[in-house]
Amino acid sequence: MRDTNSRSRSPPAQTPGPFQVKKKGGAATAASGCDVDAEPGDKSWLTGQPYSKRFFEILKARRRLPCWEMRKEVVKMVRENQSSVLIGETGSGKTTQVAQFLLAAGGDLGSGSIAVTQPRRVAAMSVAARVAQEMDVELGQEVGYNIRFEDVTSEKTRIKFMTDGMLLRECQTDPLMSKYSVIILDEAHERTLATDILFGLLKEVLQKRPELRCLVMSATLEAEKFQDYWSGAPLLRVPGRMFPVETFFTLRPEKDYVAAAVEVCCMINQQEPPGDILCFLCGEEEIETACFEIETRAGESGCSTMVLPLYSSLPMNQQRRVFPPAPEGTRKIIIATNIAETSLTIDGVVYVVDPGLFKQMLYNPRTHVESLLVSPISRASAQQRAGRAGRTRPGKCFRLYTPETFEKELPESTYPEIIRSNLSSVVISLKKLGVDDLVHFDFMEPPSPESMMRALEMLHFLGAIDDEGDLTDAGKAMADFPVDPHLSKTIVAACSRGCVSEVLAIIAMLSVPPPFSRPRHAQKAADRAHRNFASGYGDHLSLLTAYSQYSNNGSKADYCHEHFLSERNMKQAENVRRQLAGIVRSRGLEKESTEKNGMITTNVRKSFIEGFFMQCAHIDQGGKNYMTVRDQQMVAIHPSSFLQHKPEWVMYHETVVTDRCYMRNVTAIPAEMLIEVAPQFYHPDTCKLNEQAQKILQRALPRSKR
Ligand code: CDP
Ligand code: MG
Repeated sequence: MRDTNSRSRSPPAQTPGPFQVKKKGGAATAASGCDVDAEPGDKSWLTGQPYSKRFFEILKARRRLPCWEMRKEVVKMVRENQSSVLIGETGSGKTTQVAQFLLAAGGDLGSGSIAVTQPRRVAAMSVAARVAQEMDVELGQEVGYNIRFEDVTSEKTRIKFMTDGMLLRECQTDPLMSKYSVIILDEAHERTLATDILFGLLKEVLQKRPELRCLVMSATLEAEKFQDYWSGAPLLRVPGRMFPVETFFTLRPEKDYVAAAVEVCCMINQQEPPGDILCFLCGEEEIETACFEIETRAGESGCSTMVLPLYSSLPMNQQRRVFPPAPEGTRKIIIATNIAETSLTIDGVVYVVDPGLFKQMLYNPRTHVESLLVSPISRASAQQRAGRAGRTRPGKCFRLYTPETFEKELPESTYPEIIRSNLSSVVISLKKLGVDDLVHFDFMEPPSPESMMRALEMLHFLGAIDDEGDLTDAGKAMADFPVDPHLSKTIVAACSRGCVSEVLAIIAMLSVPPPFSRPRHAQKAADRAHRNFASGYGDHLSLLTAYSQYSNNGSKADYCHEHFLSERNMKQAENVRRQLAGIVRSRGLEKESTEKNGMITTNVRKSFIEGFFMQCAHIDQGGKNYMTVRDQQMVAIHPSSFLQHKPEWVMYHETVVTDRCYMRNVTAIPAEMLIEVAPQFYHPDTCKLNEQAQKILQRALPRSKR
């Protein structure tokens, strides 16, 4: 049964029973794995190719990681138990090492491929790149990653890093997860919605596949909870090596946390002995502003500094710049979102600056409103952040809040996403997976009945489920798209309205980071250039114009440069569009259009209303502000909108709260169109909207009958 091509020195010790080896041919079968303790020869056991010099250098560092010392115990635990838990300090080597140990161990463990889930896209990409380096293979070959809209894997892939959402999606076509011999749910302490759902699904799959192994890995938070859920699964703790971290609090609460963070970074830079700084902020804009300020001030003070941002929408090559050590005598200052809290470890950090905040998606089932809000971190997160300073030597953590805030205002731990999010995406995926009885699904922490009800209600409104709660044909089609149900409904609607190509372009543009760039030094010129895309209907159709002009242009790079479009984001939009179009094509969804030709702008808007009729707002009595139909919230059109007038009704893609509540990506919708497309909600005779809304609709009624 052994693959004689591979370099195996000692047989896997505790393999129970006969191997279940799937022969795949070629060196990569490696069913017998390799002995990680033995000195590697000059050729890779996996590929048969000669090792590079860098491989041996990295190997030295790997052998110093706390996880390395526990490798035998980890392999034994996973081999002998269907599910087990591994706990270890951040940076101990769980994410990068454990899958490699299991693959090398061979036998059942190495018979299929190994999936390692990550809550964050960036983490999946970045650790895959690192592990490919460690194993001396090309990224996308034996080691790859799969995140939404980006699949960098091949037939040969044995270790696959993927977002938890992707694995959940894969289950729709392969409910038994049959490709995998081991599934590692990493960063389980983050308690994302997808990981929580995977827990429940895996429990069932494990019963059907006795040879499958599941390993839950987590930073030291809340370990016992996982163990309880897996009814007493064995737990292994990797001892951490932590140096003491001295913690400082501010005396008074800080009014402006970004300014305070900049101040403290500059202070450390000028006064403290060498050592890198890691500063946590909440989002791209804040991070870029802070980087700019710190860089300017460091330049003035003559300190040799390297200031590096780190957030999820940053291009990969820039993200990678945070890892290598700075040149001798230069201090690295990394300004990051909470991605650097546990998902990514940067060596050399000695100082941490923690404003005590992060951005989290919060959903209020009562009003159906979901918003990304800056919220206080938990005390557990604060400890994690501080810990980042003590990995290589004693460090310091500067908390930009008072001890009283820490004690009284920070919650003990972060709420699992499942009890604070909009469940409609999850409900539709579960239904597609055949899990109909959501009430008895084995949730680690069940969501509130109210948010479950609201999700079902929303899907019913969208026509995805029928009165019995079963998926309709439209619902089944919707579940195939990796976008939220409002958008998938829009796509399905566009398929019958003869405008799917246009709608996909708009959705692609809405799904990527902002495509319009406004560089600090050329804002006026950028605004002028963007005005060329403006449609009188508003933002959705302006996005379409920008996309079409870009994609019809021979020289895309030049076009982006001249018209102030972000080339990277436009490319990403093209990629998203292509993938969504692939799904439309492969499912044969596009129907002969019943609509008149030449009415693209009308059909596009009607398709969007089918998905977003709950996300509309009408002008208030004063004619100045808007009121949302869903929760009667006062909102305004975002200043960045292409919409230059104030129509009676608008549809919006999302709301954002800054100094006030804004609707972003807004399109004018005539009332009669609302009545025609969503009569159940907007017919003035039956609708339950407020007086002002009804008045506008009444006026439109005769027009809509015409
Ligand atoms: O998952 P865990 O937090 O336990 O650790 P890890 O992500 O496996 O990281 C282990 C070590 O690998 C880190 O301490 C870094 O030294 C190194 N690493 C790296 O150099 N570059 C990366 N992109 C990822 C990890
Ligand atoms: Mg990790």
